[in-house]
Amino acid sequence: MTATLRAAIVGTGAIAHAHAEALAALDGAQLVAVTDRDPAAAERFAQERGGQVYADLDALLAESRPDVVHICTPPGVHAPQAIAAMEAGAHVVCEKPAALSLAELDAMVAASERTGKRLAVVFQQRTGTAAAHVKALLEEGAFGRPLVAVCQTLWFRDQAYFDVPWRGSWATEGGGPTLGHAIHQIDLLAYLLGDWESVRADLWRVGRETGTEDSSTATVAFASGAVATVVTSAVSPREVSAMRIDTEKATITLEHLYGHGHDHWRITPAPGVPDAEVARWAMPAAEEPSGHVPLLRGVYGALAAGEDLPIEAADPARSFEIVTAVYSSAAHDGARVTPASLRQDAARMASLEAPVTERRPGR
Ligand SMILES: NC(=O)c1ccc[n+]([C@@H]2O[C@H](COP(=O)([O-])OP(=O)(O)OC[C@H]3O[C@@H](n4cnc5c(N)ncnc54)[C@H](O)[C@@H]3O)[C@@H](O)[C@H]2O)c1
Repeated sequence: MTATLRAAIVGTGAIAHAHAEALAALDGAQLVAVTDRDPAAAERFAQERGGQVYADLDALLAESRPDVVHICTPPGVHAPQAIAAMEAGAHVVCEKPAALSLAELDAMVAASERTGKRLAVVFQQRTGTAAAHVKALLEEGAFGRPLVAVCQTLWFRDQAYFDVPWRGSWATEGGGPTLGHAIHQIDLLAYLLGDWESVRADLWRVGRETGTEDSSTATVAFASGAVATVVTSAVSPREVSAMRIDTEKATITLEHLYGHGHDHWRITPAPGVPDAEVARWAMPAAEEPSGHVPLLRGVYGALAAGEDLPIEAADPARSFEIVTAVYSSAAHDGARVTPASLRQDAARMASLEAPVTERRPGR
């Protein structure tokens, strides 16, 4: 029998419920402590989900001494809260986006290495049996070489969404929908296609009053040789999260919104691929959709066993780098950004803030 890990949640807003639900579904986890800047919100949450309420994170860490802290606050406080939790001896599960800048994310990773505590970042789109199946086939070369990809996060958020105080601001949200929304799909793309080689991009404000972008367009080249267009919008009435990867032997498509099961994926063979080969690409019989439950099951299983985090929860930097490169390229008038030039862009390492091109009649 494995020991039950004691979990705490900081920030008891919308996404905290997904964490509490997933914790309740796991054998090896128990929610013991919660805190929120708004004490009434923490009380309401604790009544519904359990856990003792603490006045703030410092009190929670000192008095409750949790094994794992789930950071479900707005991105502006992820880095200091995650570092404080790890220094107090807790592992961390941090919501996306992990930080406001690559420099902050580097500091979080350094804290993890210094303290020996794990830093898991939530990219739940990596989970589920379909993504695991497609990733395994891509890695064994079953589809041949990936060539061309399309990655779309076309969502709809009205003006009221952007009017929430921490949103639409470089200081508290770090960026716009490219960081806040598209990072999920960009992360899945990079999870499947591997290291990136270059990014060219533009930021646009076409339909909302916001301090950041409401749309962006980018071209990402991968080290494998594959090239992808990445389009992001928060102004698209028919919403979709979509990805398409054309390889030498197949087209792999995914169309969903916030999570995917087997039916959201389709694998179409190129002409001439033998039926016996195509038959091997069929989804496995057992299906589990993507989500917080499989992600946290993997994380808690690894923590309980003292093992490294599963790949679904490790390596938070790659997609964050691609998003940062989008902002860096836009700041340099669409210039080509590489991993090396990104790390030399001191302004972008410290903050994603970049000029946005306004596209409105008469402006
Ligand atoms: N993985 C996903 O699919 C997903 C979905 C939605 C949101 N998110 C991410 O989760 C995070 C939170 O988003 P949300 O939609 O739950 O926001 P939210 O505004 O609903 O909740 C945030 C909560 O944090 C509290 N808070 C703010 N600052 C705090 C502080 N310094 N200390 C303690 N509490 C503080 C707020 O009072 C609020 O209750 C964001 O990073 C967001 O991008 C992830």
